[in-house]
Amino acid sequence: MKLTRRQLAQLGLVGLAGMNPLLASATSPPKTAAGLKILILGGTGFLGPHIVNNAVASGHTVTLFNRGKTDPHLFPELEKLVGTRSGNLEPLQGRQWDVVLDTSTFMPNEVQKSCALLKPNVGHYLYISSTAVYKDWSGPMDETAPVYNLKAPDSANYNSFQKYGAAKAGCERQVSKHFPQQHTVIRSDAIAGPGDKHHRYTYWIRKAAMGGEILGPGRPSTFVQYIDVRDLAQWVVHCAENSVNGTFNASSKASAYTMETMINDCRTASDTASSVVWVDSEFLVAQGVQDIPFWVPLQDAMPGMGQLSVEKAMQNGLQQRAKLDTARDVFEWYQGFPAEDKVLGVGISQEQQAQLIAAWNKLQEAA
Ligand SMILES: NC(=O)c1ccc[n+]([C@@H]2O[C@H](COP(=O)([O-])OP(=O)(O)OC[C@H]3O[C@@H](n4cnc5c(N)ncnc54)[C@H](OP(=O)(O)O)[C@@H]3O)[C@@H](O)[C@H]2O)c1
Repeated sequence: MKLTRRQLAQLGLVGLAGMNPLLASATSPPKTAAGLKILILGGTGFLGPHIVNNAVASGHTVTLFNRGKTDPHLFPELEKLVGTRSGNLEPLQGRQWDVVLDTSTFMPNEVQKSCALLKPNVGHYLYISSTAVYKDWSGPMDETAPVYNLKAPDSANYNSFQKYGAAKAGCERQVSKHFPQQHTVIRSDAIAGPGDKHHRYTYWIRKAAMGGEILGPGRPSTFVQYIDVRDLAQWVVHCAENSVNGTFNASSKASAYTMETMINDCRTASDTASSVVWVDSEFLVAQGVQDIPFWVPLQDAMPGMGQLSVEKAMQNGLQQRAKLDTARDVFEWYQGFPAEDKVLGVGISQEQQAQLIAAWNKLQEAA
């Protein structure tokens, strides 16, 4: 769909001529550096391409380093170095960059290798971490809250939230050890937006687009936090340009959005008739349901969820578009999926959803 100038203005995109509006950022904070040489470790997954687009549009020279497996057709005009985080860093040897943006690993030993190799030749190291590093979600918190300090084995078997968080915390320690005064650690929360390969937010867009009854898991008032990938990408480039140093949470504002407002945004964006049936978490757990995006089965044990402060990032340049804009753009992007890809393979299927709602209604009637 081609947007008119008026529509672009409504999205805050006027002035970004030539960029795909779905990839563009909502607003542009003032730039203080241009023409940086930027190395992106990754660059072709979900967050990566948005960072690339932003950096290129801002006049920087971008080099990508990855295995050449994910979407290798992307960015034919850029320099691409092929290697692996675990072993082959040879193409990076002896090269110089102003900034490295590390988006592609949660393995501490891999970050240790890239930091040690790049330290003599790179001015600033920015690492995309995760809010999973926090070990205690008993209340609201900021960046000073305790993080995991487990002896994380350097194995690929990080199959739980806790192990992933411990591994990410280990990566952060490597970055701050090798680049003590020249690093940015960005602890990202769930990322939403066009291009998402994980489909967590897109799951809710799909449910809204299907119409009818939507199963709302747990309480409607449960706080959720997520960040639009384009706002995150914009801020990553801003941090690189301004040598922002330190550790930051990156997400939407604390205690500002709930499961209900998120689902309702998706319903509004899809413009399809639907209603939400709220089903208790205990019931879902008893039925063996394990994974519905943004639902935390043991939410009473983690009351701090959705209440992570992002004030520090906001004071350092993070800007965020309206949540409904994210919903509208993800819906538009989802509409373009070929039919066979529209079933996303995350959360519960339409059939499962109908069965759970029927069983829940029966229980309510009997009560
Ligand atoms: N998605 C979320 O909701 C979320 C939330 C919090 C934090 N994060 C963090 O955000 C970062 C970005 O996540 P993303 O999903 O958007 O990933 P991404 O950076 O967009 O994609 C992964 C990139 O890394 C490359 N890569 C993967 N394994 C590699 C290896 N062994 N050696 C070299 N390159 C490798 C991939 O290319 P090849 O496959 O071609 O190698 C691809 O370019 C990650 O660090 C993630 O932990 C994500």
